[in-house]
Amino acid sequence: MSWIVREEGFDPQRITNHGSKFMTGNGYMGYRGTLEEFSKEQLTAVTLAGVYDQIGTKWREPVNAPNGLRTRLFADGAELSVLNSAVEKHVQELDIARGVHARETVYLTEDGARVTFRSERFVSMDQLHLIANRFTIHSDKDVRLTLETGIDGGVWDINGPHLKEAAYTSYEGTLTAAASTQELGIRVAVAECLAGPQEGQEEIAATEDGIIHRILLTLQAGSTYEWVKYVSVYTSLDDAEDALEAAVSSSRSALNTGYDALLQSHEEVWEQHWALSDVEIEGDDEAQHALRFSIYQLLIIAPAASEKVSIPARGLSGQVYKGAVFWDTEMFMLPFFLYTQPEIARNIMMYRKHTLDGARRKAAEYGYNGAYYAWESQDSGDDACTLFNITDVFTGRPMRTYFRDKQIHISADVAHGIWEYYKLTGDTGFLIDGGAEVIWECARFFYAYAGYYPLKRRYELLDVTGPDEYHERVHNNAFTNYMARHTLRVAVQMMDELEQQAPELYAKLAGEREGTPGLQEIREIAEQLYVPQPDAQTGVIEQFDRYFQLEDPSLQELKARILQPNEYLGGGNGIATTTQIIKQADVVLLMHLFKDEFAPEIKKANWEFYEPRTEHGSSLSPCVYALVASDIGMPDWAYPYFKRTATIDLTGDSKQYVGDLYIGGTHPAANGGAWMAAVLGFGGLQADEREVRLNPALPSEWSALGFKIRVRGQAFDIRITREDVRITSPAGNASEQPFRVEGRETLVRPGQSVTVSLKGLAPAGGSH
Ligand code: BGC
Repeated sequence: MSWIVREEGFDPQRITNHGSKFMTGNGYMGYRGTLEEFSKEQLTAVTLAGVYDQIGTKWREPVNAPNGLRTRLFADGAELSVLNSAVEKHVQELDIARGVHARETVYLTEDGARVTFRSERFVSMDQLHLIANRFTIHSDKDVRLTLETGIDGGVWDINGPHLKEAAYTSYEGTLTAAASTQELGIRVAVAECLAGPQEGQEEIAATEDGIIHRILLTLQAGSTYEWVKYVSVYTSLDDAEDALEAAVSSSRSALNTGYDALLQSHEEVWEQHWALSDVEIEGDDEAQHALRFSIYQLLIIAPAASEKVSIPARGLSGQVYKGAVFWDTEMFMLPFFLYTQPEIARNIMMYRKHTLDGARRKAAEYGYNGAYYAWESQDSGDDACTLFNITDVFTGRPMRTYFRDKQIHISADVAHGIWEYYKLTGDTGFLIDGGAEVIWECARFFYAYAGYYPLKRRYELLDVTGPDEYHERVHNNAFTNYMARHTLRVAVQMMDELEQQAPELYAKLAGEREGTPGLQEIREIAEQLYVPQPDAQTGVIEQFDRYFQLEDPSLQELKARILQPNEYLGGGNGIATTTQIIKQADVVLLMHLFKDEFAPEIKKANWEFYEPRTEHGSSLSPCVYALVASDIGMPDWAYPYFKRTATIDLTGDSKQYVGDLYIGGTHPAANGGAWMAAVLGFGGLQADEREVRLNPALPSEWSALGFKIRVRGQAFDIRITREDVRITSPAGNASEQPFRVEGRETLVRPGQSVTVSLKGLAPAGGSH
């Protein structure tokens, strides 16, 4: 049961939520979990990774391709649709083990016939341009059926229409749609081949916004009819001479291969994904289901085949948040990929190399050296974040926000992601291919941003916004300062390593450039950058200078001041701005990231102080509280936060609007947070270049937790129970790996399974 997401009955209120919950995709494109008869009003979207468009001064956002799956049915002239027909039964289902979406609807026609319509589709994980969709229909009485299926160009757009000069044609039975984006003239092409139904009279017809096959057939009582659509999408950004020709030939070759064989190859890729990335929870089916669902959501948006795209904040579930990549990717999604599929992690981090020039442009725009990464990054790395990002619900005016200008921690988050990748993989080639340059440029940026205060004898970072966006333009945000220092230290360590391993690159980076810092300066600031310390009495780190002097209402008191449900709590007039109520994990995230630098009592003090003051206005927040609670040995405090993060896209219980801005869609950072909360939190996993550490703390509901990791090119299976931890190193591994389980060291050799007791017994090893 844990592999199936299922909803019975049709509720028009849940169309948008189901669009996200039943998503399918393959990293090249995402197909929302909408039904075949739906159109743009129901937010049907085929969102293309890395294809963006802007019209005039409207927000730049990803492009949705024409929908090649649109299918409408008419029984004796009346449309059969969940939106307006008599429905006896309706089921929507997603099989997350193999990425297959299905729906079954039983309609009652005006003549009293019971028509059962089934559709099953998948966005191929094997052929990234392909979607296949198989339909069956059955009636208990004779019915005159009109089937209209083809390509619908009326796609959902927030700031569109993005496609111009759309041309719909049919060529030897293949339907096509081709259009160009407005801004860059990117060609977007869709082709559809239809196999079946076996009977009926067919014509090809133009519609207002597309092209369809119109097939008239009589459904004979008791017989089942079947047809299959093979839909391909290509753009001129793909590696193909002509996008339209490529789409046509892909659909035709799929037609020749046939649905079952295509499904099988698709399933094989899914099987490989799960073999690498599954996590097993024993004793808690609900958590198991939610966690697998979260992992599924990450896998369908993973850029497995391209290093030119990364993962947007709403995945491929539409155009929300401008389809932009935020710090979410490095800080909340990367760990999952890093530990289970490092090749994908490499692509994600290479994206930052490909967008380095955009980051340099942004730094220069604000008068700094180095790389200041886009808060909202798209194809070029220029910042898609606008200066007025939220509308004031009271005045209807856009509000000046400082996400773009002041969230300088983004450059540190990028550098952190690169270094984590390097530490866990030892992939020096990646540093040489661009990783080192990115880190170095981020370090140079912080050098440029920081100011030296001679009386205090230290560097500081003033006028910044930390993760807690409700407090903008603050001084010395602890998270930012620690992260910046980390970047500077990493840059120094990296340069020391490069000097030995890649002297040419070292010389290039370290080379004197007029007016820019060299290694000596970076070394100096790395040690002299101020990082706020825990208060001597309470152990609490002040989130930023003078934060403790703000008003300290309870969250409940603050919420009682809300006048309009969607009002923004931060910004100039926000009710949280002058208080200690924060939007999301900030200092507590620091406790997680630098867990070895803070004593357990400091982590606990900060968790206890900030937890009641956190509004969790961002879906990124709960998982962090889960992580730190597990780390301080309070897994039962962590558990509700884990559940909240793991179920966010199942329940649909998340903020849908900020101001008048629709922010719904999937939440990949929370999905990645669910994996982190389970494996890094409850599993207590932590790894670096030297060893893998496990300090488990299972919540009381769980009897066992099993997961797989890959560290430095080797795979390991871990199984944690209340009694012990079993580590298996498959025979295919090349060398022994040091582990440390609750402080006890153990070496695990290839082909060996080692069990370490958690009851204070000596490690019990054994080969198998
Ligand atoms: C959060 C940011 C996050 C963004 C995209 C905002 O609400 O405060 O931290 O990067 O959403 O998920």
